[in-house]
Amino acid sequence: MVKHDDYMTPFSAWEDVSAYIPRHLTLWQGFYGDGTSGAHLTELGFDVIHEDVDFFTHDLGECVVTNPPFSELPRVLARLRELGKPFVVIMPCSTLTTRYFRDLFQDIQVIVPRRRIQFRKLVDGVEVPSGRGSFDCLYFCWRLGLPRDVVFLNKDVIRRKLKKIIVIPSPSSTSF
Ligand SMILES: C[S@@+](CC[C@H](N)C(=O)[O-])C[C@H]1O[C@@H](n2cnc3c(N)ncnc32)[C@H](O)[C@@H]1O
Repeated sequence: MVKHDDYMTPFSAWEDVSAYIPRHLTLWQGFYGDGTSGAHLTELGFDVIHEDVDFFTHDLGECVVTNPPFSELPRVLARLRELGKPFVVIMPCSTLTTRYFRDLFQDIQVIVPRRRIQFRKLVDGVEVPSGRGSFDCLYFCWRLGLPRDVVFLNKDVIRRKLKKIIVIPSPSSTSF
């Protein structure tokens, strides 16, 4: 069976949730894809490890922030449980009702995106139209201590929270 796991996360999906990702921890973008996801998180000001290594045999960073291959979710979740680190992981909504998920994570919190995430689909490294193939996904969060178990993202909340967190120095205040 051909696995279609090459769905890259767009910048907007990380930007929207960035106010809830811990800034004091080193992140591990555990699934490399084409490498853009780590670059997006770096651009958002996070300290990120994003290396092209096997997720299942490595243990990097302090908080896993990633979008895993959906065809491997039972294995990915078992490994996340084993690692025991806090995480923000993008997965289909339907994951929540699977038995393997509930057996591992009863104490999950979720962030609901403000719109369906439009992943960039790659086939043999080449971007192709993703069509209607996108999945409805949530950000599954563990051990992050979110204010509520279900957080709905909307534009105003994102803008307000980002304003508080990202203080961009004006060119005149930067001295070299
Ligand atoms: C859904 S894509 C997401 C890529 C990237 N994390 C992002 O957010 O854009 C998942 C990627 O994981 C890769 N992958 C599959 N098994 C892996 C493994 N054992 N270790 C590391 N990467 C793996 C797949 O090739 C695929 O490109």
